[in-house]
Amino acid sequence: MPSIPYSKKVMDLFLNPKNLGEIENPDGQATEGSPACGDIVQLQLKVNKDTQVIEDIKFKSFGCASNIATASIITEIAKGKTIQEAKNLKYSQVVEELGGLPAVKVHCSILALQSLKRAIENYEEKNGLVAKDRPTDE
Ligand code: FES
Ligand code: FES
Repeated sequence: MPSIPYSKKVMDLFLNPKNLGEIENPDGQATEGSPACGDIVQLQLKVNKDTQVIEDIKFKSFGCASNIATASIITEIAKGKTIQEAKNLKYSQVVEELGGLPAVKVHCSILALQSLKRAIENYEEKNGLVAKDRPTDE
């Protein structure tokens, strides 16, 4: 049997992802696809409009283990943070939390992070909060 190239953390989250599912009437949402593999991830948010704190966050993934593990960990990190704090989440932080990722799986993780940023943008657009200094997706 070939050895599995994933960290224990990635395997744990793949087998037992957190915040999986859908939110009824989300305040922001995004469905992002990866041109590299054709997979899709959906991410939805509930945001407190007074504090701008992400009160709930759920995802659904039609991607691979890296994508599911990344989406799971970013939902855990983003929950309870303000939308500004969540927007500043860096790809490098996510990979560190995951205990590393195989190089060929980088795009899967970027896809998950992209879905968080797009869902926040969708919330901002719907609420007239479009930021002028939107951070890049690195
Ligand atoms: Fe997307 Fe395998 S190519 S999960
Ligand atoms: Fe498509 Fe990982 S191979 S999300």
